Amino acid sequence: MKALRDCDTPILQGLSDAEFAQFGALIRDRTGIRLTPSKRAHMEGKLRKRAAFLGLANVSDYSRMVFDRGGLEAELDALIHLATTNKTDFFREKLHFDLFDKSLLPALLAARPRGLAPRLKVWSAAASNGAEAYTAAMVLAEAAKRGPPFDFAVLGTDVSSEMVAEARRAIYPATMIAPVPEPLRLRYFLQQRSTGNLAQVRVVPELRQRVRFQQLNLIDEKLPIDRDVDVIFLRNVLIYFDPPTQKAVVRRLAKHLRPSGVLILGHTEAAIGNGMGFEQIGTGVFRVA
Ligand SMILES: C[S@@+](CC[C@H](N)C(=O)[O-])C[C@H]1O[C@@H](n2cnc3c(N)ncnc32)[C@H](O)[C@@H]1O
Repeated sequence: MKALRDCDTPILQGLSDAEFAQFGALIRDRTGIRLTPSKRAHMEGKLRKRAAFLGLANVSDYSRMVFDRGGLEAELDALIHLATTNKTDFFREKLHFDLFDKSLLPALLAARPRGLAPRLKVWSAAASNGAEAYTAAMVLAEAAKRGPPFDFAVLGTDVSSEMVAEARRAIYPATMIAPVPEPLRLRYFLQQRSTGNLAQVRVVPELRQRVRFQQLNLIDEKLPIDRDVDVIFLRNVLIYFDPPTQKAVVRRLAKHLRPSGVLILGHTEAAIGNGMGFEQIGTGVFRVA
């Protein structure tokens, strides 16, 4: 058998402890995301692909390019995207959308002065590919159709510019809309006949018009967001931060809610909202004073 060093395939050079620590510190500093040791192999795989894409021999060359040869700012966006976990679904943690539809929306509408049709504002604050924002928009559109009528706008934000671009495209594999109830699937998605790829669907223009996406970093001290938002979905992102960052982000986002506005955290993140002066009205669902 040929010795490994004699093979044609180059030996893949791994990420050293020092390099992993350097990438970890950068990502934590810029996004709040902790690259725990359990994520090392996954991160290394992604860095290796990135290095190959740029024509570099291995992750050490990539690391030198980023940290020693002035490549950091040009690579930052790509590096941040590599460090994020973007798993999402339509109607993910469906109980939240049931509560949103049956209880939160009627209460928010009832609290508005009579007369003009109110305008509700919803913010999906770690929006990934937009599934959460479009789910909220479908629920809002259905409620407005049932009446009494109201206007609404949904904002989706994410630190990854790649995810923001995907969310704006609003094109999904057809399999991804399986959790969407059939009447809504028929009303709010179109098969991609124009591209000939019927395995893809696109959110209809009427719903897309109601949903806007922008890049935003939750750990920034100042967020360019209105301060009269009705409902904020902040789900399945706090788990990537350390406890002080989790609390700081929740405190900061709560300032963007109108009085009696509602903050919704992921089911596994529900405990983070405890002891912060909110009224808990469901699992991970908090009303601000
Ligand atoms: C697991 S997804 C959750 C998506 C959706 N909220 C849900 O529950 O299905 C987490 C998202 O948070 C984003 N994210 C991570 N750190 C962030 C930060 N500092 N600011 C804004 N978004 C961030 C990631 O890019 C990713 O798309």
